[in-house]
Amino acid sequence: MTDTTPQANSHSTLPIDPAREIRWGIVGTGRIARRFAQGLAHVPQARLAALWSRRAQPAHAFAAEFGGTPCDSFDALLASGIDALYIATLQDSHADYAIAALQAGLHVLCEKPATINRAQLERVLAAARASQRLFMEAMKPSFYPLYRKLRAQLAAAPIGEVGLVRAGCSVPGVPADHPSLSFEHAGGALLDIGVYEMFLAVDWLGAPRDVQTLGRLGASGVDTFASLNSLHERGGIAQLFCGLDLHGKGDALLMAKGGHVTIHEPWWNPSRATIRYADGRVVELDEPFEGGGLNYETAHFCELIRAGQLESPLMPHATSLAMIAMADAARAALGLRFAGE
Ligand SMILES: NC(=O)c1ccc[n+]([C@@H]2O[C@H](COP(=O)([O-])OP(=O)(O)OC[C@H]3O[C@@H](n4cnc5c(N)ncnc54)[C@H](OP(=O)(O)O)[C@@H]3O)[C@@H](O)[C@H]2O)c1
Repeated sequence: MTDTTPQANSHSTLPIDPAREIRWGIVGTGRIARRFAQGLAHVPQARLAALWSRRAQPAHAFAAEFGGTPCDSFDALLASGIDALYIATLQDSHADYAIAALQAGLHVLCEKPATINRAQLERVLAAARASQRLFMEAMKPSFYPLYRKLRAQLAAAPIGEVGLVRAGCSVPGVPADHPSLSFEHAGGALLDIGVYEMFLAVDWLGAPRDVQTLGRLGASGVDTFASLNSLHERGGIAQLFCGLDLHGKGDALLMAKGGHVTIHEPWWNPSRATIRYADGRVVELDEPFEGGGLNYETAHFCELIRAGQLESPLMPHATSLAMIAMADAARAALGLRFAGE
């Protein structure tokens, strides 16, 4: 890909006309890109304008199903007149595509994990600052109606400072050729699944101060199970697990002095929660989501573009940095280093 320089005056970080449609591009037309495109249809004043994938046939099939113009190259996608790029490739390529897009003057919504390590993420964020463009990791839970309702309920009727976050997910039977098990593509349970749990810990407890990890590596060299205990900046503790070899889909628990919250499974696509207050009150939240769920983060991202914002208040850069710092620490404990690290 070419290291393109931003075109003077070709884009603006000034707020844009709220009525103006946001034109999206997608790089990588695999599984999650399909879900993004389905969600985009539920986002007002936004449309899929262009896309590129390494292989022409899937890209053309994707365009036939969801719309958008298939481009001949990634550079052609960058120059196609889009406002924002959604990066839906595997994580080993996120940083390069993000930096190229930011340098081309585009806003970037990047799938999780934003990068494979903290050093890469710092380079991406430096590119975002230099180009004055919006960058956000597509970490979806906080945008779901349930999660927002939960935040509002706890603001109106608090349980106090959360002191323990317990969350996990483990998915067995992953085929050997799935990207989650690929060392080359920087797979593994921590980066594929664990980042969700790390998000939950950071979102409620703040940045990590200490991360202790036990786990195992599988035949392909990536981690297939990890269990983390972490201490966070305000003194809270997280107990997290992620796996690719045990059946362990779960809910999430937030504990405080004044009560506790269960976000029911699958907590990362949340629609139900139960709040049990210490005085005996029980509040059930039931907030179904539409559009597959990715539409909420996309709508939020479009609002930020329209407002000329360079960072999301709900998914700020500091949260992405803290999450990847936890993943770095956990991988170091397991002795897992990817190529070039
Ligand atoms: N937010 C969520 O809920 C969620 C859920 C699942 C996955 N994800 C994340 O989304 C990303 C993609 O996962 P997926 O399940 O969609 O994978 P996938 O189905 O394998 O699709 C990946 C796509 O990226 C392309 N690609 C891979 N590496 C590339 C590279 N270096 N340059 C250009 N194109 C490349 C692939 O093209 P080819 O066909 O040419 O290989 C394919 O089109 C991962 O980072 C994953 O962690 C997020």
